[in-house]
Amino acid sequence: MNSFAEDVLKGLSANPRYLPSMYFYDEAGDRLFKEITKLEEYYLTRCEEEILNNQKEKMLQCFSPDGAGFNLIELGPGDGLKSRILLEYLKKHQVDFEYFPIDISDNVLSLLEKNLSRKLPGLKIHSMNMDYFKALDELHRFTHKPSIVLFLGSNIGNFKHQESVNFLKALHEKIDDDDRLLIGMDLKKDAKLILAAYDDKKGITRDFNLNYLERINRELRGEFLPEHFFHKAVYDQESGEAKSFLVSKCKHEVYIGALDQTFVFDKNEAIFMEVSKKFDGYSIEQLAAETGFRVEQYFYDNSRYFTNVIWRKV
Ligand code: AVI
Repeated sequence: MNSFAEDVLKGLSANPRYLPSMYFYDEAGDRLFKEITKLEEYYLTRCEEEILNNQKEKMLQCFSPDGAGFNLIELGPGDGLKSRILLEYLKKHQVDFEYFPIDISDNVLSLLEKNLSRKLPGLKIHSMNMDYFKALDELHRFTHKPSIVLFLGSNIGNFKHQESVNFLKALHEKIDDDDRLLIGMDLKKDAKLILAAYDDKKGITRDFNLNYLERINRELRGEFLPEHFFHKAVYDQESGEAKSFLVSKCKHEVYIGALDQTFVFDKNEAIFMEVSKKFDGYSIEQLAAETGFRVEQYFYDNSRYFTNVIWRKV
């Protein structure tokens, strides 16, 4: 059984049921996510682009106060549209840097390389098609320049609290004292705005969630009928957690061939799909302190909906 099958079996056998959010991103999932980032309601990408565009100069001063060269490492670059804002700026100002995008998807990296070599000829790009931590180990063995590690897009928000602590502690072990992280984090705000971002009028977020069931059908010979589920987003202002669920509209059974198992869903039974955590100054400082980091600098968009934060080891 492959790890997708194993994880689906584990999640659908749990009570309450869940599906691990890392499997949203097959080809159709990537395309739907791209559409989400362009939606009126989905402010996150726009705000982060605004921050990078308006504050790239100040960011560079923080990355390299003495003007020395560095490695720009990106965890999960996606289509690279956001990092390109920084890459273009650094290249234009003849900063001594090399770019190391790290992703487990070969497809993501080859598209990115193709795109960047067209838009930014001469950029020194070294794609690393492997697990983040393995890649950081490799880098450590071969280069001794300081590292700036980008983890953009509020991807950190898709981890549960303990997962983000484990992830950041592991990252802490792999980087040096003069390295820096630049982390994109979505901020707490009016609940209506957050809910709209995860329940858009066009229904693209719904389709993004339902595509998960379709992926199970495609890859694991599942027999889900997506029309038997509706998409539900909730937001808890206290914890800052926006969560999405797929809720069964009726009592029904679903057979999954690759698991040779039938799952019975009750009417109104929810499958937990994803958490998208929203932070505030307090929770950011807490998370940094808990994982051995300190905040060096916050950058905000004009509405203060989103922040990009520079972290260093304590
Ligand atoms: C990738 N990640 C930060 C997105 C988010 O906002 O949590 C994923 C997403 N899911 C639904 N809409 C966007």
